[in-house]
Amino acid sequence: MRAMAQRFLPYQSRQRLRAWSGLPARFFELLDNYLYDLRTFTRHSSSLQFFNSRQQRQSWIDADYHKLEKGLALPAPRAGFGKPVAERLVRQLQEYRRRYDDDETVHNAISVLSVYQSFNQLQGVEYTDLFEKIASLKAYSKNENRGGYEVLEKRQWQADAEHDLLAFFQSRRSIRDFSSEPVSLQLIKRAMEMAKYTPTVCNRQAARVHAYTRSQEVQQVIRCQMGNSGFGDRVQTLLMVTVDRACFFSAGERNQCWIDGGLLAMSVVYALHSLGVGSCCLNWSVTRERDQLLRQTVKIKDSEAVIMMIAVGHLKDSFRVAKSPRKPLDHFLVDGIQTA
Ligand SMILES: Cc1cc2nc3c(=O)[nH]c(=O)nc-3n(C[C@H](O)[C@H](O)[C@H](O)COP(=O)(O)O)c2cc1C
Repeated sequence: MRAMAQRFLPYQSRQRLRAWSGLPARFFELLDNYLYDLRTFTRHSSSLQFFNSRQQRQSWIDADYHKLEKGLALPAPRAGFGKPVAERLVRQLQEYRRRYDDDETVHNAISVLSVYQSFNQLQGVEYTDLFEKIASLKAYSKNENRGGYEVLEKRQWQADAEHDLLAFFQSRRSIRDFSSEPVSLQLIKRAMEMAKYTPTVCNRQAARVHAYTRSQEVQQVIRCQMGNSGFGDRVQTLLMVTVDRACFFSAGERNQCWIDGGLLAMSVVYALHSLGVGSCCLNWSVTRERDQLLRQTVKIKDSEAVIMMIAVGHLKDSFRVAKSPRKPLDHFLVDGIQTA
């Protein structure tokens, strides 16, 4: 049949025939994987508004206190703004503290509420009931002035940021030819100390990195990934970026894991580059079966979505990289609304 088609049909028609004949199988594979995503997102996020985990409650609190922080950092915050959010945040905090011990989230939220209260009182706004509740929360909190807003000076801000980074960006390359020198966890910690300042949606900080530095572990995990043939056996340290679905609330956030995780991954790669350590992103573009296979190996939380992996290693004195040419600037940057 195949030989006949090859003999009698032109290439275009053969391609179309192949596309049509595989259509039902490919469609059901797609459906199966979308259903897997739907199940995991509804089970672990709070999009259905059932709160089953501490992480879900924490993320609601993080998002609400950050709403107030953002309001306070506007050019001219409106006196009395954000009352419904502040009231909801107080209720959430009371409920959270009934269930769990105080933690960073509680302290940050109370600190922001305290700044919110002071701001409003200075403007002559008096929400008696709300402010009494904030005062009673404050009594339990380590008031370390953590949250709220701060005023920065342009000159200092620019001095801290001023580096010509073109050479830095151009010199980062995906490395697939590592030396055999081990990469210490200490070095990974230094990179993470930088990468943790990556922006995250509502400052919820849902992404994290699992580090595998022992060669046996590295090999166990990297074997689940499909894009490392020819160099995976020389990877010294493997990072796996995951995002907790429990930090997300709504249908609109169904893809947020991959955005926050991708941003953190990029920061990790640049942070490693700044430390002179080589890395190569490794895709986790997989179907349900492979995702489940990995989960049998790494024992991460069910709620964590795996975003990608990063192979890490020290450099040889001289090593090869793919040239990976870039398209011109007008491919990456579109100026304004296009008329046609
Ligand atoms: C999300 C992502 C997944 C990737 N997956 C792989 C992979 O599985 N194997 C691999 O060898 N390279 C992988 N890469 C590296 C790309 O091939 C590489 O970034 C691209 O060709 C540009 O080259 P450069 O990083 O040297 O600038 C991946 C890159 C990204 C961003």
